Amino acid sequence: MRRILATMPSRAYDVLVGRGCLAGLGSALTRRCPGGKTVVCCDENVAPLYLEQARASLNAGGYEVSHIVIPAGESQKNLARAEELYGVLYDRGIRRGDTMVALGGGVIGDLAGFVAATFQRGVRLVQVPTTLLAQVDAAVGGKVAVDFRAGKNYVGTFYQPWLVYADLATLETLPARELHSGAAEVAKYALLGGGELLDRVGRLAGGPLSAARVSQELVAGCVAQKVAVVAADEREETGARAVLNLGHTVGHAIEGATSFSRYTHGEAVGLGLRASLWLSRRLCGLSAREEARAQALLDGLGLPQRLEAVPGEAVCDLTRLDKKSGRHGVGYVLLDALGSPRLDVRVRPELEREVIEWLVKR
Ligand SMILES: NC(=O)c1ccc[n+]([C@@H]2O[C@H](COP(=O)([O-])OP(=O)(O)OC[C@H]3O[C@@H](n4cnc5c(N)ncnc54)[C@H](O)[C@@H]3O)[C@@H](O)[C@H]2O)c1
Ligand SMILES: [Zn+2]
Repeated sequence: MRRILATMPSRAYDVLVGRGCLAGLGSALTRRCPGGKTVVCCDENVAPLYLEQARASLNAGGYEVSHIVIPAGESQKNLARAEELYGVLYDRGIRRGDTMVALGGGVIGDLAGFVAATFQRGVRLVQVPTTLLAQVDAAVGGKVAVDFRAGKNYVGTFYQPWLVYADLATLETLPARELHSGAAEVAKYALLGGGELLDRVGRLAGGPLSAARVSQELVAGCVAQKVAVVAADEREETGARAVLNLGHTVGHAIEGATSFSRYTHGEAVGLGLRASLWLSRRLCGLSAREEARAQALLDGLGLPQRLEAVPGEAVCDLTRLDKKSGRHGVGYVLLDALGSPRLDVRVRPELEREVIEWLVKR
């Protein structure tokens, strides 16, 4: 098992990454937050797979355990569902010393995390991520939110968990498309971090992607990368946290232009990363060799090669709606070299159009 200590200004906590370790959840928790009640929140896909094991483990750890199962999907990440969860916590007499356990992907982590952050101004939160995306990204860093009207993550706060407990064995049941989607965020951390993590992800990309080939070191490496960034800018105030947006300006625009239906988030981010690399070569001096290495890495992870069935114009229009855009155009995160990000690079509209055309035609 790998342990990463996440030392945030608001709280320090462990991120534990293992394989086949779900049965140890209860004892890991008792060492950090002994006693009290736990409420496990998960969705209908995860419940039949892992709820019983999580329950049994928490029970063995001496906790009184109850659970709530909600339908799966992003559409559940809303205030109505949050209110239902508040009702459950209220009826079960949950207090601040009790614990909400978010067992599932990023949707559950964000929703249950938001409820934990706000119920009685905060009950304990444990993230037990079961998708690759959640293990390397969503479960760590303390952003919790629900969607509101057309605004994704529009109502939320920053609330660090008490523990993140990731079991890589849960990835075995993840649909292949979800695994690939998570691999896009893995690629993002590799491109941001460079060095050993990039080599490791390069080796992963050298063969067909499977859960068994996702190693503890790889997930721990991504987590360490995220922890380092978040610790320097926990509440997104200094701007440093914005490096995590690599690939996301174009990625979000592609999701928007396709009404969130054609591509998964990870697939769209994969295309966004390709665009960032292309722009980095033109604007930041990323070498042709490094660009080729990084594009090949995205190929190897099975991420989309080109942008299909989307009018390029629509994507360009949407990059301007990015939450991170300012008055002087869109500030991109680009790379001077692999492992060396540069923040807030302004991209002229003509060049933006050109990179989208390249994404369509390549
Ligand atoms: N808070 C953050 O910092 C942060 C960062 C990135 C993404 N997010 C959020 O994460 C969400 C996306 O997360 P996601 O990609 O994990 O999606 P998700 O939670 O919807 O999970 C994807 C699908 O996989 C299923 N599933 C989960 N674990 C499984 C398993 N082990 N076996 C089989 N099926 C399983 C789920 O039921 C769901 O159908 C978005 O809402 C996004 O906004 C948050
Ligand atoms: Zn993302």
